[in-house]
Amino acid sequence: MKSKPAIAVFDTKPYDQEFFEAANARFGFALRFFRPRLNADTVRMAEGFPAVCVFVNDAVDAPTADALARMGVRFVALRCAGYNNVDLRAAAGRLRVVRVPAYSPHAVAEHAVALMLALNRKTHRAYLRTRDANFSLQGLLGFDLHGKTAGVIGTGKIGRVVVGILRGFGMQVLAHDPFPDSAFAAASGCRYAPLEEIFRASDVITLHCPLTPETAQMIRAETIAQMKKGVTIINTGRGKLIRTKDLIAGLKSGRIGAAGLDVYEEEEHYFFEDYSAGGIQDDVLARLTTFPNVLITAHQAFFTREALANIAATTLENLRCCFAGEPSPNEICVQCAVAGPPELPPAPPS
Ligand code: NAI
Repeated sequence: MKSKPAIAVFDTKPYDQEFFEAANARFGFALRFFRPRLNADTVRMAEGFPAVCVFVNDAVDAPTADALARMGVRFVALRCAGYNNVDLRAAAGRLRVVRVPAYSPHAVAEHAVALMLALNRKTHRAYLRTRDANFSLQGLLGFDLHGKTAGVIGTGKIGRVVVGILRGFGMQVLAHDPFPDSAFAAASGCRYAPLEEIFRASDVITLHCPLTPETAQMIRAETIAQMKKGVTIINTGRGKLIRTKDLIAGLKSGRIGAAGLDVYEEEEHYFFEDYSAGGIQDDVLARLTTFPNVLITAHQAFFTREALANIAATTLENLRCCFAGEPSPNEICVQCAVAGPPELPPAPPS
């Protein structure tokens, strides 16, 4: 009997194992779950496996990709959308790389709104107070979201769901995206606006754009200075969209009224792990945790049953395509990524 293809699944937590085992009932792969992250130090664990499965903090850098290829690994399945942790140049011609481009925009959008609501109505503080028999309302005053202005930066899959939810609250929504979609704006009742207007007019700003050279540190001293006093900032995008030291200065001055952060500039050192017994060395993160009007979650916006089930099913289907020698719609074209985008034809004379 032909043996089942074996997959080494790195950086696994009990919940990954649970959802992958459930999805695997349809595929029948031989899954082996490893707790450590894949990197140059741990790559030897992949010996004998034709495929590896990795997450956001595994490092498929050049030495790791070289070692994988030398050991006979042929497929790298990312169980996430981003692939900045894979050296595509090193993978080119040796490893097929597949990913999960979308798992649940609703999960992330709903979490962004959960942060917004909790910060506004101080639910996180009320929870602690009532458990300590403190039933005072002093300091818990919020505001109606209805009628206020939200700025949504990035109207891709997640940003659009956020726009829909906030419009449902009766908010005015200003959106910003380099590719504005007028049909979406008309249907949802939002309006595209330049960033300066979003910064100036919004009571709440929520970030749903990718991290690129253009978007890195888009929230910094200079842009914070343009914002309404008391603005709430929500970031479920990427930590480096915000210059955290400037955010802290804005919180101290009161320019920023609240911040809901599911991502953090230096999160890879801490997020997903338990440091409660030893404490943390990162003084910026430590300072953030001291503000009563800052709510931090550790990159959990995606973390719903539906998203985990989609991630597992899509990853295993991607690998089924690889093992069957079929193209996968979720394959990263490593050659294209190395070669860069094709040359555009010259613009016609205006
Ligand atoms: P998407 O690719 O569907 O949408 C991104 C949108 O941002 C696009 O419409 C794009 O045109 C726009 N954009 C690009 N540059 C921009 C700029 N300079 N200013 C404003 N908009 C810009 O991506 P999706 O699925 O909506 O995800 C958005 C981001 O959310 C991801 O890039 C990722 O960083 C983050 N994310 C976070 C998760 C979490 O658990 N916290 C989970 C999944 C994604």
